[in-house]
Amino acid sequence: MPEEAWWGVPTAPEALVVEAAGARAWLRPDAFDTECFGIPMAKVEAAAGARSGAVGLFAACARVAGEQGWVHLAARVPSEQTDLVRALEEAGFYWVDATVIFGRRLVDTTGPGEVPIGLALAEDLPVLQALGRGAFRQSRYFVDPYLDPAGKDRLTDQWVANALNGRADRVFVAEPKKPVGFAACRLDRRGRLATIDLIAVSSDSRGRGIGRSLVEAVCRHYEPIAERLEVGTQLANTQAVRLYEAAGCRLLRSYVTLHWVAPELRAGR
Ligand SMILES: CC(C)(COP(=O)(O)OP(=O)(O)OC[C@H]1O[C@@H](n2cnc3c(N)ncnc32)[C@H](O)[C@@H]1OP(=O)(O)O)[C@@H](O)C(=O)NCCC(=O)NCCS
Repeated sequence: MPEEAWWGVPTAPEALVVEAAGARAWLRPDAFDTECFGIPMAKVEAAAGARSGAVGLFAACARVAGEQGWVHLAARVPSEQTDLVRALEEAGFYWVDATVIFGRRLVDTTGPGEVPIGLALAEDLPVLQALGRGAFRQSRYFVDPYLDPAGKDRLTDQWVANALNGRADRVFVAEPKKPVGFAACRLDRRGRLATIDLIAVSSDSRGRGIGRSLVEAVCRHYEPIAERLEVGTQLANTQAVRLYEAAGCRLLRSYVTLHWVAPELRAGR
């Protein structure tokens, strides 16, 4: 990656390079999003070059997306790069999400709480999918008015199914006999960083310490294995932010996500 990178790492050779106004961006089709929403979707996964060319570059990304038949683009920018957020907006992208990443070192995890926690079984899938469908309403997909609601549910269902089918290292459930919450966790290849990929508690069981018990169980499990825990959420998700703070996590970094849609999708065609 060139040293003047603004964000991201391109996954060459799959990424398509767009060059304009002395800057470059790497666009990559997103197979998972495309399948869930049934429309061709892609990401601006990295960008670099002359910052004065940012508006021209992002406008060129939109043009290239049109040529490729991609009707939806997503770009996630470190939040301190406000000039790039403005440039994306000027080029027709719209703001959907501020993501905050929290983390803590995995030491001194407190003892087991009162809520029984176990590991998810394959047969828990429908219950966990129902929990997920009622939960992730603040994600960038859910707040995007141009994305089909049925696709949003398919995305949640598929994400939960993938977690149980090996995307997650472990899926913890609260009240294992009749799950009322779950946390799906990933472990990086070197085994140093554990990440909570998904966490949800059923709406009628929230505020009773179940989320806290899930995070503590995650920390206890990974403390002998990994050095750090990280988890991301939306800035607007006060309950999740407070949950992670209560579990000893601190804010590490943040991003702004913007989407762009082709005129036909914006017009509902
Ligand atoms: C976020 C979520 C998992 C928390 O689970 P929970 O079981 O309600 O959380 P707990 O009862 O264990 O509370 C843990 C902390 O969260 C905070 N919290 C809980 N309910 C809250 C509320 N209604 N408002 C503000 N803070 C709240 C509290 O600070 C609490 O810590 P404390 O007990 O030390 O005060 C749950 O609200 C949820 O499923 N939300 C929808 C899915 C979601 O947003 N997941 C995270 C996406 S990244």
